[in-house]
Amino acid sequence: MALGIFKLPGVAFITGAGGTGIGAAVARGFARSGCVHLAITDLNPQTLAQTKSAILSVNPRAQVLTREGDVTSESFVKSFTAEIVARFSRLDYSVHCAGILGASLRTHEAPLAEYERVVGVNWKGVWLVSRAALAQMLVQEPLDAHPGQRGAVVNIASQLGLVARPTASIYCASKAAVINMTRSDAIDYSQDGIRVNCVCPGVIETPMTTGSTEVTERLRPAIDIAPMRRMGTPEEVADAVLFLCSSQASFIQGHALVVDGGYTIN
Ligand SMILES: NC(=O)c1ccc[n+]([C@@H]2O[C@H](COP(=O)([O-])OP(=O)(O)OC[C@H]3O[C@@H](n4cnc5c(N)ncnc54)[C@H](O)[C@@H]3O)[C@@H](O)[C@H]2O)c1
Repeated sequence: MALGIFKLPGVAFITGAGGTGIGAAVARGFARSGCVHLAITDLNPQTLAQTKSAILSVNPRAQVLTREGDVTSESFVKSFTAEIVARFSRLDYSVHCAGILGASLRTHEAPLAEYERVVGVNWKGVWLVSRAALAQMLVQEPLDAHPGQRGAVVNIASQLGLVARPTASIYCASKAAVINMTRSDAIDYSQDGIRVNCVCPGVIETPMTTGSTEVTERLRPAIDIAPMRRMGTPEEVADAVLFLCSSQASFIQGHALVVDGGYTIN
């Protein structure tokens, strides 16, 4: 088994973990970092099962709790979080990767249903999962490996929470909301030994960006104007997530870590 550079004992909860995107890379990264208790969820049960197999191929002794569900459902988020705690007794890392891009529209063209769909997953979903995870972290003691830390939350925002792009107002706003919710939660939970940070990926090669030619073409200018002029990999984002969860990031709080090949420095 190839070992990661971070030591992440305890229990990890990852949303949007199905498939070949960022959440799945985060899940595999936790397994490489010595995490043997993982709870993963996604809308798609088939791709979720693939991630479970990938985790077990990293570490056959890993215990993987999987449940298909929708992060916009309060009852699903509550019941799955309760199941994680019932099974593993605690929750040390909560990483919120479920997200959707939405249609390419200017504001006056967008139906209300599109707003509700994108904001529902990207913001309400992250809020619901944060709320459930933080409530559990508050009532547990730190692990020996992370003295002073009851838990770590990492939200996946986007470079588009910091800068804007044409015809993406709903997505951009949903990701800006995640960044500022991260900061606000970081302030509120510092006193409890909980760190809350987010990662802002640039254009990353995942099903979200390569699933249709229309989307890939839409994103092409963003790739071309970033200094590194390529898509990032899900693993490059996962490494930033694992770092923020680790003891090496013990004084990093409320940060929005950009992983974008330089896009936002232009
Ligand atoms: N790929 C990029 O270029 C990029 C850039 C910036 C930010 N992001 C963000 O990174 C996160 C992961 O995206 P990705 O690129 O890995 O995409 P992806 O499509 O590969 O993965 C997203 C996963 O979320 C799941 N999902 C969608 N709606 C859900 C819901 N309601 N409930 C539960 N699961 C749901 C999907 O089934 C999918 O497996 C998203 O929040 C996305 O906005 C991605």
